[in-house]
Amino acid sequence: MTADSRIRVVEREDTAKRRVFTPESPLRVGIVGTGGIAGAHARNLATLDGRVRIVGACDIDAERVDAFTRAWDVAVGATDLEGLLDQIDLDIVHLCSPPGLHKEQAIVALRRGIHVLSEKPPALSLAELDEIAEAEEAGGARFATVSQHRFGSRAMWLRDRVADGSLGRPLTAICNTLWYRPDEYFDVPWRGRWDTEGGGPTMGHGIHQMDTMLSILGPWSQVTAVAARAARPVATEDISHAIVTLDNGAVVSVINSLLSPRETSYLRFDFEFATVELEHLYGYSDDSWRVTPAPGHEDRVAAAWALGPAGEASSHAAQFAAIVEALEHDDPLPVPLENARNTLELIAGIYASAFTRVPVAAGEIGPASPFYRSMAGNGTPWSAGADSR
Ligand SMILES: NC(=O)c1ccc[n+]([C@@H]2O[C@H](COP(=O)([O-])OP(=O)(O)OC[C@H]3O[C@@H](n4cnc5c(N)ncnc54)[C@H](O)[C@@H]3O)[C@@H](O)[C@H]2O)c1
Repeated sequence: MTADSRIRVVEREDTAKRRVFTPESPLRVGIVGTGGIAGAHARNLATLDGRVRIVGACDIDAERVDAFTRAWDVAVGATDLEGLLDQIDLDIVHLCSPPGLHKEQAIVALRRGIHVLSEKPPALSLAELDEIAEAEEAGGARFATVSQHRFGSRAMWLRDRVADGSLGRPLTAICNTLWYRPDEYFDVPWRGRWDTEGGGPTMGHGIHQMDTMLSILGPWSQVTAVAARAARPVATEDISHAIVTLDNGAVVSVINSLLSPRETSYLRFDFEFATVELEHLYGYSDDSWRVTPAPGHEDRVAAAWALGPAGEASSHAAQFAAIVEALEHDDPLPVPLENARNTLELIAGIYASAFTRVPVAAGEIGPASPFYRSMAGNGTPWSAGADSR
């Protein structure tokens, strides 16, 4: 067999396996939880040229699901997930429900062979994430987590530059989520509690920046952290600071705050030959990035910057497009469990280090650790009993 004929055989097999989504035969999506972020899912799905259609939605609030199905022309509405799945065939569900429901709802869908895209955080604990992994393995359908900032083209560009080494070794980085949430933000019953939100800004907000940082720089090896409840009426922390050492030797400073009136999401990477900065709030474009060459490395860095990809802002739409593509090619769905676990484990490590006052290594939080089952471990330094929920 010649090389050319081998290529043709591979192409034929690939085409036979491939499912292509079109307006006539779209990917059939169900939205679970039709509150705040569900609207962003609907708007972003609507940008995908009809290749995806929301055909079902559910929410325990009947009025809310009714308004959603009318606004987005959704065929079937229900007040619980099982009821929805009994009525309609779906390819994938998007979990837009509160974090404390993600594990249970993911398992319901995976057991029926339906793919799951969960809003962040994918689960309240490593234990819950491992239960999802078991259901994924048993059922054959796939689980992915929303992490839209991985999908802007300049984040992809930077991942490629780390891979090709054109900016030199990563040496140090900053990963800050300095956001502001007033007391009223926590009026929503699931917010600010360990048993329903899983943590404060480390879990619920900084997860975006930490996940993007890890997606670029790779796995972490050790963390030393401090967490405090300084101002908000919550059971969780409202600030955390951490020093994270990565497998590649780079050291990263991380701050997660909900107490910062001048809000910013700031990532800074210092490589041997350049500083690369990203500053935005809830989404970035190419203009949000800045590259500063080290003296004597201007030409090399300009050449690296000129390489693609470019032009795609970070957004749910960019991730949804990547998911549709992955389903068409029968690939793992981005962002898969193993990557989400690396980030969730860092979050568990930050809490474990902060509450036990010792450095925590990657791999250390196993089933025997109290931080495996709850990000609060055996309780926070600032509360006990009922208040520690
Ligand atoms: N990726 C992002 O940038 C981003 C931004 C905001 C929120 N989120 C995440 O999205 C999720 C939802 O956040 P939100 O702000 O939309 O919350 P929300 O409270 O506005 O909406 C949640 C909805 O889920 C419904 N719900 C509750 N129990 C349910 C059940 N058993 N079955 C079905 N629906 C149920 C509620 O009635 C509500 O309508 C959270 O995990 C949050 O962290 C992600």
